[in-house]
Amino acid sequence: MPSFDPETLRADFPILSREIDGKPLVYLDNGATTQKPQCVIDSMTRFYSYENANIHRGVHYLSREATDAYENAREYLRESLHVPATHELIFVRGATEGINLITHGLSSQLEEGDEIVLTIMEHHANFVPWQVLAKQRGLTLRFAGLRDNGELDLEDWKSQFNSRTRVAAFTHVSNVLGTRNPVTEMTAFARERGVLTLVDGAQALPHGPVNLAAVGGDFYVFSAHKVFAPDGVGVLYGPREILNAFPPYQTGGDMIEQVSVKGTTFRAVPERFEAGTPNISGAIGLAEAFRYLSGIDWEAANAHEDELAAHAASELEKIPGIRVFGSAPGKVAIVSFLYASAHPHDVGTILDTEGVAIRVGHHCAQPLMEYLKVPATARASFAFYNNHSDVEIFLRGMKKVERFFG
Ligand SMILES: Cc1ncc(COP(=O)(O)O)c(C=O)c1O
Repeated sequence: MPSFDPETLRADFPILSREIDGKPLVYLDNGATTQKPQCVIDSMTRFYSYENANIHRGVHYLSREATDAYENAREYLRESLHVPATHELIFVRGATEGINLITHGLSSQLEEGDEIVLTIMEHHANFVPWQVLAKQRGLTLRFAGLRDNGELDLEDWKSQFNSRTRVAAFTHVSNVLGTRNPVTEMTAFARERGVLTLVDGAQALPHGPVNLAAVGGDFYVFSAHKVFAPDGVGVLYGPREILNAFPPYQTGGDMIEQVSVKGTTFRAVPERFEAGTPNISGAIGLAEAFRYLSGIDWEAANAHEDELAAHAASELEKIPGIRVFGSAPGKVAIVSFLYASAHPHDVGTILDTEGVAIRVGHHCAQPLMEYLKVPATARASFAFYNNHSDVEIFLRGMKKVERFFG
């Protein structure tokens, strides 16, 4: 039976009991990466201590065991994410690699004059690969704008579609504004027009389970390190039929059917896109993180995170000269703000002296910064293991910033 008690869960994360210069660590940089529970760390230590072997094709016991652990991780993720039989789940290095794999695969299928619809809130990972592809293939990129509260302007997004639109790529959740996009409605709209969709789920999974069958799109990507799991591994999900028609992204061992001096034939997905030795322990750690997260009551966890973020935002807004970005209904617990009297880097540096970790800068979303007409923001991003004390220490740190610069 899933339950939620932030203090009990917090104890599962060893790093959260650290002190920084004698002060308790207040980790509010969860949008950049999340911390790992002991069970995830243990699952990887166990693999390297007792089970390590290379996978696939091995006849010895350890290799068979490691292969099973890797493939069982895939199966567990398939079940947890409700992957339909028509779709495949491929292990990649992360969201960035997943998106690059898709733009590479689509390259030969798109023609000059074809159009891609993006939104202005995309992370560079879901922006630059499309821009590069557009340049190579003579494609047109169209960008949907936002409403004043940071919500996607859905009417504007829909109006970007025309008879040349081939792909719509959009984030599930904005890493700067916390806006949660209506992805099911968006994938349905695109599908009715025969347009492929790619959803960037990097910031959605840290805030609760995602049902990919319900999202209903073609491609979906995310990074394990943002879901309380190891770095260097992530997931690409997509329709088998389309993926099998893509040329291989990388070639080499494990992804081939037959190799001779005359030529090579390639395997179908998932192996087609898992050339070389994959991140075996990473896949195992990711499945363990999903197992851990399945024990959490996410309704309660989201209410907790949202309350912390709402309290932080409303207190910040009381400081003269502070502007908070993004108040879309249903947004996730990310608070981006700009203080007129101090550069975000100074805000981050002063907070650091109090043991508070936030992120400052353009958050790999420079087109959004340009759109908002700001050079950078400071961002406090919350996870279920944050607590009221974290918010109080953060706000105390902001008082110090105010004393310095206000
Ligand atoms: C919305 C979004 N998409 C993609 C990425 C890229 O993730 P990664 O660097 O793990 O590939 C990030 C990372 O911050 C992100 O926030």
